[in-house]
Amino acid sequence: STPVIISTDPGIDDAVAIAIALADPQLDVQLICPVAGNVSLVHTTDNTRKLLTLLRQTVRIVPGSQRPLLRLPINAGNIHGVSGLAGYDFPAPTVPVDTTTTAAAAMHAVVSQQRDKTTLVAIGPLTDIALYLHQYPADRARIDQLVLMGGAIGRGNWGVLSEFNFAADPEAADIVFRSGVKIKMAPLEVGTQAKIMPAVTAQIRQLGTVGDMFYHLFTHYRGGSIQTGLKIYDALAIALLTQPDLFTLAATNVTIETQGTYTAGASLVDLQDRLHERPNAQVATAVDLPRFTEWFVTALSRLA
Ligand code: BDR
Ligand code: CA
Repeated sequence: STPVIISTDPGIDDAVAIAIALADPQLDVQLICPVAGNVSLVHTTDNTRKLLTLLRQTVRIVPGSQRPLLRLPINAGNIHGVSGLAGYDFPAPTVPVDTTTTAAAAMHAVVSQQRDKTTLVAIGPLTDIALYLHQYPADRARIDQLVLMGGAIGRGNWGVLSEFNFAADPEAADIVFRSGVKIKMAPLEVGTQAKIMPAVTAQIRQLGTVGDMFYHLFTHYRGGSIQTGLKIYDALAIALLTQPDLFTLAATNVTIETQGTYTAGASLVDLQDRLHERPNAQVATAVDLPRFTEWFVTALSRLA
């Protein structure tokens, strides 16, 4: 199975993505690094612990950055609740966190110890992935790929043109896209396309304690969108890693805007090659909806 490191800011859709990754026999999740994003680092760390405790999983947790590389933090507490995982009363967390090292150093240790190349999964702001790639440049040869949820081909969900994860730390996203690491990107559009509709949510509700937990989180996610369809963005990154054939992929250059007053964090997905830059990412431009939905339910059923 593939060694995996997850950088995440749970966050309701992050929780779904983590749970699916942990249950997937193809993946060997070695390390989870919470990062500030949807909510503060204290909350994303606490939420990671709560989730793993409920799932009875003991993956190593090493908290990462409290703030973006250069900017002030933004947050999405309006979408995920003030705690980041609103709507479910979790048992007190018992799994430990390791605060004796940094996320970057912990990532380096994992990548160095694996026989096979490691896959990085990023479903929050890219702060810690950028720090890691910058501090341990030689590790790039030991990384198989970085699969991430972030960016938009068209318009944003935070700024007019910027998606939340990239808008939260544009400089980090810029470093990552210039790093030379192989990148697969699930932009906003595939998350919007892959809405989880009420019939599917009802199936998930039946999946024991874990199903009950997700159902309750979903009722609080994005103000009532359980009725109109849930955008579980971060789950798309796990699908892109384990089921790449569900997606239409375009090898293209992605440049991150860091200077714009109104557009910082915008991802220029250069499908028409206007910038004449080398392709640095495989961008998912469409997802096979029926097959994605089937995968999603099957993946969550493994946790029942
Ligand atoms: C991304 O922003 C966060 O709110 C979600 O967890 C997801 O990672 C979507 O733009
Ligand atoms: Ca996230």
